[in-house]
Amino acid sequence: MNLNKKSDLLLKAFELIEDGIKNRDSLFHTLTMSNFDGKNISSRVMVLRDFCKKTRTLRFHSDVRSSKVKNLKNNKSTSVIGYDPKLKTQIRFQGVSKVNHKNKKTKEAWGESQAISKKCYSVMDGSSAIIKSPMKYDFHMKDIVLEDGYENFSTIEFQFNSLEFLYLQRQGHRRCRFLWDKKGKLSSSWLVP
Ligand SMILES: Cc1cc2nc3c(=O)[nH]c(=O)nc-3n(C[C@H](O)[C@H](O)[C@H](O)COP(=O)(O)O)c2cc1C
Repeated sequence: MNLNKKSDLLLKAFELIEDGIKNRDSLFHTLTMSNFDGKNISSRVMVLRDFCKKTRTLRFHSDVRSSKVKNLKNNKSTSVIGYDPKLKTQIRFQGVSKVNHKNKKTKEAWGESQAISKKCYSVMDGSSAIIKSPMKYDFHMKDIVLEDGYENFSTIEFQFNSLEFLYLQRQGHRRCRFLWDKKGKLSSSWLVP
């Protein structure tokens, strides 16, 4: 990678994100997503499930009953960030999220999910509910009908129109922002790190 070439940085960002889908050791496998809850910015770690370069879309999975999904229905604006200290690389995205629930896309994603992931969606009362004791909410696989969880399963499709790549190095960092307009036309600028 030539750190002084913007196109190389974008390729690297796409490569790292693509690798993060399946590579559990990648620090881009779990990304931090932030959105607006009506009063404050709310952030949480989420597993990256898929990335489509063509549409610039990252896919995440979540419980439709969760706070984040409720908030995203009111305000789609979303920011996603990941950092790997070994690679000294931060990738920051901004864009909008779309929630899918009980449609063709969730059917496909649910079909590809493993039992260990499916079981979370059978949890009583739903993610983010206030409870008296956590033990009542432990998973007992024998009591769960895995497929019932589909009712609560949603996918979040996050489409970014801004990607910022930051690489840290002693002699001078490299920070570059890539922006896509409504027609998908790309422009890029170096930023003071
Ligand atoms: C390593 C890790 C991975 C996580 N992956 C997901 C995920 O893929 N989807 C999800 O909804 N929550 C995931 N969580 C839990 C969220 O960070 C968060 O606590 C939960 O979804 C509730 O967030 P909310 O109240 O903002 O909706 C993960 C947490 C950790 C620590």
